[in-house]
Amino acid sequence: MANLQTTYLGLSLKNPIIVSSSGLTSNVESIKKLEANGAAAVVLKSLFEEQILHEAGSLSVHSDYPEAEDYLKSYVTSNNVEKYLDLITDAKKAVDIPVIASINCISASKWIDFAARIQEAGADALEINVFVLPTDSRKTAEDYEAVYYTLAEKLRKLISIPISFKLGDHFTNPLRIIEQLWYRNIQGVVLFNRFFAPDLDVKSMKVTSAEVFSNPGDIRDTLRWVALANHAVPKIDISASTGIHSGEAVVKMLLAGANSTQVCSALYKNGTAHLKAFVEYVDKWMNDKGYASIADFKGNMNYGKIGDPSVYERSQFMKYYSSHD
Ligand SMILES: Cc1cc2nc3c(=O)[nH]c(=O)nc-3n(C[C@H](O)[C@H](O)[C@H](O)COP(=O)(O)O)c2cc1C
Repeated sequence: MANLQTTYLGLSLKNPIIVSSSGLTSNVESIKKLEANGAAAVVLKSLFEEQILHEAGSLSVHSDYPEAEDYLKSYVTSNNVEKYLDLITDAKKAVDIPVIASINCISASKWIDFAARIQEAGADALEINVFVLPTDSRKTAEDYEAVYYTLAEKLRKLISIPISFKLGDHFTNPLRIIEQLWYRNIQGVVLFNRFFAPDLDVKSMKVTSAEVFSNPGDIRDTLRWVALANHAVPKIDISASTGIHSGEAVVKMLLAGANSTQVCSALYKNGTAHLKAFVEYVDKWMNDKGYASIADFKGNMNYGKIGDPSVYERSQFMKYYSSHD
């Protein structure tokens, strides 16, 4: 067997496949199963900023939709933060793989102090899933981006465990955001989050949820930006996420420059045991290609190393249009 070890956020991983934050990582039994099937680390289901503020007695829920208010209030009451801290401690006792905690937030407000308790509970690292939806036309892009930087600065002062930011792909200039996070001693980024999105049911005239799970074709944006980011900000660790449904997709992300990959939808669709197929594929591919370790090929096809970097730059379908009727 080839040596599949890699490092991510300074953590040593037995292979490059992490199970991403979701219901799959919300309880110890499931986490043990993931480890038994080959997961190299888990990112726990996110704790939400609203849950932390509720516990601190400072959550004010205002919504034009009373149903949404009720849902939020009952969710934060039944999923309290003590349970989350217990999950970290219990998972750390139950498995040998790294346990990365996750917080889902929309601001750099006073919830941040809570990160110290996550560190105390024993998390190996903290993943910050942050997305500020730009809904105010009077604000500039810089106003919104400042939230990410303030968050990074405050968290870095407060805790010493490694921190990664799980980002969306909506920025005008993702490379600048990633570089600025690196300057603020954020060790890693997850590229990219796949957000909950609304849909409309035209029969019942109700707002519903768009497809929750990704498809294999959804790796396209992740692949481009991993390749660009690994070249532009080579020292920051990258965990590739969204659309990784096979060992082949894992290999593509490593070649583009990722240190690790995160999988979620593929396991919901095919079961936890599918993880084994991921690991087997990477191992076989490395043997076939004669690579002894991941370091031998990681980033070898990033933006700077590929012969013609314009392939990562092209976004208009010129060739497609000119060769198809
Ligand atoms: C059912 C479900 C629950 C999720 N919960 C979280 C969460 O709590 N926190 C988070 O950061 N991402 C969450 N995600 C997003 C996943 O971690 C992942 O980023 C996304 O699904 C893209 O990866 P995939 O293509 O492998 O599914 C969730 C996804 C699904 C499908």
